[in-house]
Amino acid sequence: MRPAIDGVELAVPAPGRNLPPRAFTSPAVFDAEQRAIFARSWVHVADLVDLPSPGSYVAAKIGRTPVLVLRDRKTGELRAFLNACRHRGAQLLDGKGTCDKQIKCPYHAWSYGHDGALVGVPYREEFDGDIAAMGLVPVRVGTVGPLVFACLDPAAPELAAWVGQLPAALELAGAASWALGYELAYELEANWKLFVENANDGYHIQFVHDLLTDLLAPDSGETTLEAHGAYTVARINPAYVPPERDPGEAKIRFGCIFPNLIPVLSPSDLTYIRVDPVAHDRLRLFVRSYDHPEFANLRELRKLAFERTADQDIAVVERTMRGLHAEGLPPGVHSSRLEERIGHIERLWADAMLREYGPTNKRLLAVAGA
Ligand code: FES
Ligand SMILES: [Fe+2]
Repeated sequence: MRPAIDGVELAVPAPGRNLPPRAFTSPAVFDAEQRAIFARSWVHVADLVDLPSPGSYVAAKIGRTPVLVLRDRKTGELRAFLNACRHRGAQLLDGKGTCDKQIKCPYHAWSYGHDGALVGVPYREEFDGDIAAMGLVPVRVGTVGPLVFACLDPAAPELAAWVGQLPAALELAGAASWALGYELAYELEANWKLFVENANDGYHIQFVHDLLTDLLAPDSGETTLEAHGAYTVARINPAYVPPERDPGEAKIRFGCIFPNLIPVLSPSDLTYIRVDPVAHDRLRLFVRSYDHPEFANLRELRKLAFERTADQDIAVVERTMRGLHAEGLPPGVHSSRLEERIGHIERLWADAMLREYGPTNKRLLAVAGA
């Protein structure tokens, strides 16, 4: 029998075919994705601007898993841990800020060093057995330009392999030194995959987005599929290119680092949208935009344009979510060129789900001694 979750067969969709609607509406599928996708991927958790000095921390999430990222007070290194106390599991830190030499749990005051070691336990003698090794659970952490990623899976590929050509593109643009221009957040009634797919859908632009249709030179996009993502590079309409710049070089790069980061790099800015999964039918968007110093004067204008475009996307994504609740709706299709990245993302999704829940799950076989 083919593996399935809540009636959703775990199989790579045939070319041009989409995942079934229930893959977007099922709470059981959403739960299964937490382990198969979010716990196995490198996920964006913060930016370097959140961790400016020794002791800075950010509380973040990888899917539903709370993590904390910290700049070690002694060594200045970035570290990440599960944001959960080893005593009874209370979340340790909230929001972002600077923490003392020790991270103290607000519940029973266990405390941990910045290396995660357990350093203080009130009434320690009252605990049976050896609890000395009950330090914070470490999480992998790494950076790409101004972005910080973390990964719960010790067996996942290295971050550099995960993010493909993105570091080279950010490096070439010099984006690591750009200033933070604006930050936005949204909450939507839709499954997280729908927003990621919409952001990788080149087909809707001319029907939904007035400004983007104007900005992009028609039919100029070239798409690259990567092991854990996909991106398209398109030319900017010459009318938007300052006269002193070569219009042939004015390009915009957009796509996805699987599972949930949408970085958009243009000559003027790096803007990303992170799609945080909240429930099967709810997501949050976290948006930040960094700008090239020469274009900082256009910041307000860019923000207005982003907000207008985001409102247009949100409307169609929530509309799609409502439609996908229709019982009896067969799986949809996608165009092999204009929606190529959607097909790729759905293949990555199915591969990850099959690795975890399919009949040849190597982890399960290893446990069974096969
Ligand atoms: S849960 Fe943290 S000290 Fe008890
Ligand atoms: Fe869009």
